[in-house]
Amino acid sequence: MPTPAISLETRLIALADRSDAEAAAGLAELGARPAAEALLREAASRAPLFPEPPVKTAVRVVLRLGGERLEYTVTLGGGAADVAPGPAEGARAYLAQDLVELLRALYGTAPGRHQATRELRITEPERPSFDPADPEHAERAAAVTALHQLAGALSRPERSLDELAVRFGSDKWGGHWYTPHYDRYFAPLRNDPVTLLEIGIGGYDAPDQGGASLRMWKHYFRRGTVYGLDIYEKHGIAEPRLHPLRGDQGDPAYLEGLAAETGPFDIVIDDGSHLNHHVLTSFGSLFRHLRPGGLYVIEDTQTAYWPGWGGNAADLTDAGTSMGFVKTLLDGLNHQERPETPGQEPSYTDRHIAAVHVHHNLVVIEKALNAEQGAPSWVPRDVDPYSWYTAAADGE
Ligand SMILES: C[S@@+](CC[C@H](N)C(=O)[O-])C[C@H]1O[C@@H](n2cnc3c(N)ncnc32)[C@H](O)[C@@H]1O
Repeated sequence: MPTPAISLETRLIALADRSDAEAAAGLAELGARPAAEALLREAASRAPLFPEPPVKTAVRVVLRLGGERLEYTVTLGGGAADVAPGPAEGARAYLAQDLVELLRALYGTAPGRHQATRELRITEPERPSFDPADPEHAERAAAVTALHQLAGALSRPERSLDELAVRFGSDKWGGHWYTPHYDRYFAPLRNDPVTLLEIGIGGYDAPDQGGASLRMWKHYFRRGTVYGLDIYEKHGIAEPRLHPLRGDQGDPAYLEGLAAETGPFDIVIDDGSHLNHHVLTSFGSLFRHLRPGGLYVIEDTQTAYWPGWGGNAADLTDAGTSMGFVKTLLDGLNHQERPETPGQEPSYTDRHIAAVHVHHNLVVIEKALNAEQGAPSWVPRDVDPYSWYTAAADGE
């Protein structure tokens, strides 16, 4: 099995809660420059959470690690969010910060002092007097907005999942009403460095279209790593902590390789083809690669009743449909209570599913050891409990 590659972002996330000395040593070991650049790219990718200036506007950024001083140009506004090494000529917005605090601001969990080493400045040009018609005012306003965007991105913006869905155009709120349910199950993991895989990127065959929900997840889990799987090539939507993969959710061999390289997962969401046999194949391959305490979500289970999608409305117990299969998992939850069938061991799902939450068109399956003891063996199974109580009371 190949060893999963550990990305620079993952290493930075792991460093963010260490002591000052350990974090500084870790950053130096990773290389101050690549680390600083990766952190600024993360900040730039969070900038769309804030209003942007109408035109491209440069922010001069100075970062310090020990005696080292690093300078970057971050360009925001007019749809841009770019990072380039080197000084920003003529920039009016300026941000300077200690690199360790920048790391903590982006990826740390402690409610830190991450603004204590931050310096913000707007450069004022020399001019003889105040002239309200001076075009320079618009330039200043753009610099203030760009600086607000960058400083805001560094200040742990915590948006609700509904808001993020609408911001990034995901139909998980609006088309469907899934995000309140998701928030209920995912909120306890929000500050964890989760690994999330979503099947189905969206945008169909356009390589740079789609990814709405992946962006939503990336900003919800600010320390998370998000993988998206699609049958179409989607390289154009890659960004820090968001990795598109190409493959078929109906191909178990491909899914095994994917899980070996990118798993184990904390969360898997199936929002792919919604064909019933694909839903079952993906679950069969990927559920084993979910961590204990992880969640497996199946969306749009309405197709369980649609014959064109492999569904069956005539036989609601058909285990070849997603909902028919989910019903079998419910009996698995109570496998300890079923009369023993000689030679029949509980299945993997019997032993590893602790809860199944069924909502309208959405199923959330919790993975945890299901090893609770069954009812004591002396409780009779095959007699009417009232006759048994009466017999016990009579001392028989
Ligand atoms: C509903 S869209 C995903 C939307 C996206 N999750 C969102 O919420 O923004 C479904 C996606 O599944 C992809 N898809 C269809 N069949 C697939 C398969 N066999 N394997 C992987 N992806 C598939 C389609 O190309 C499409 O992009």
